[in-house]
Amino acid sequence: MTTSMADVQRKEPGVVIKDGWSGYSLELFNYPEHYQGDLECVYIPHGVIMNRIECLARDILEDIGHHDMMVLCVLKGGYKFCSDLVESIKAQSRSANRRLTTRVEFIRFKSYLNDQSTEDLHIIGPDDLSMLKGKNVLIVEAIVDTGKTMRALLQHVETFQPKMVKVAGLLVKRVPHGAAELPDYVGFVIPNRFVVGYALDYNEYFRDLNHICVISETGKQKYKV
Ligand code: HPA
Ligand code: MG
Repeated sequence: MTTSMADVQRKEPGVVIKDGWSGYSLELFNYPEHYQGDLECVYIPHGVIMNRIECLARDILEDIGHHDMMVLCVLKGGYKFCSDLVESIKAQSRSANRRLTTRVEFIRFKSYLNDQSTEDLHIIGPDDLSMLKGKNVLIVEAIVDTGKTMRALLQHVETFQPKMVKVAGLLVKRVPHGAAELPDYVGFVIPNRFVVGYALDYNEYFRDLNHICVISETGKQKYKV
């Protein structure tokens, strides 16, 4: 079985955003009016995210081939990335005149309160993932920081004996004691800042923002629990 942890063939860091990147001024972009004052800047515009996802989809098809794919979406933050990634995989497979079936399953971890990671981590989702047996599995995660979720999930998935497991992470955050291993497909490597939008939340707010943005102090106070 090929596991992503042991696999070093591709693993490119993706687009690397440097520590000094202060983002784009909010005035240059369109975003929901109800978040006025709650954001500091547009960190990654929606169009850039979409284009990067097309490249990840291309790489995934190159590696996995146009074979059936079991996609495991990590909720809630991964729902937009997963949806856009699967759409792009399907579109590119179709334009290559190939047949590919994709099936999506959902899994959830709860580990964040305000902008802090809590210690306990448990999987909420189907107990039985026996449908993964002998299949090509693609784990789709919005953000990887410590790599704890990714490791736990890989271990969990491997118990169901898939043929191959790959991990796609839209964002990898440079945190102290960060993930030792990169996901197989990385959208962007970002500085250690709390970002929201494109389904990433702060206490359930900001998922309805299309760009990835940095939250302002006002925003943090306003939506604190
Ligand atoms: N934003 C939202 N959710 C997160 C983040 C983040 O920066 N890091 C880990 N979970
Ligand atoms: Mg969250």
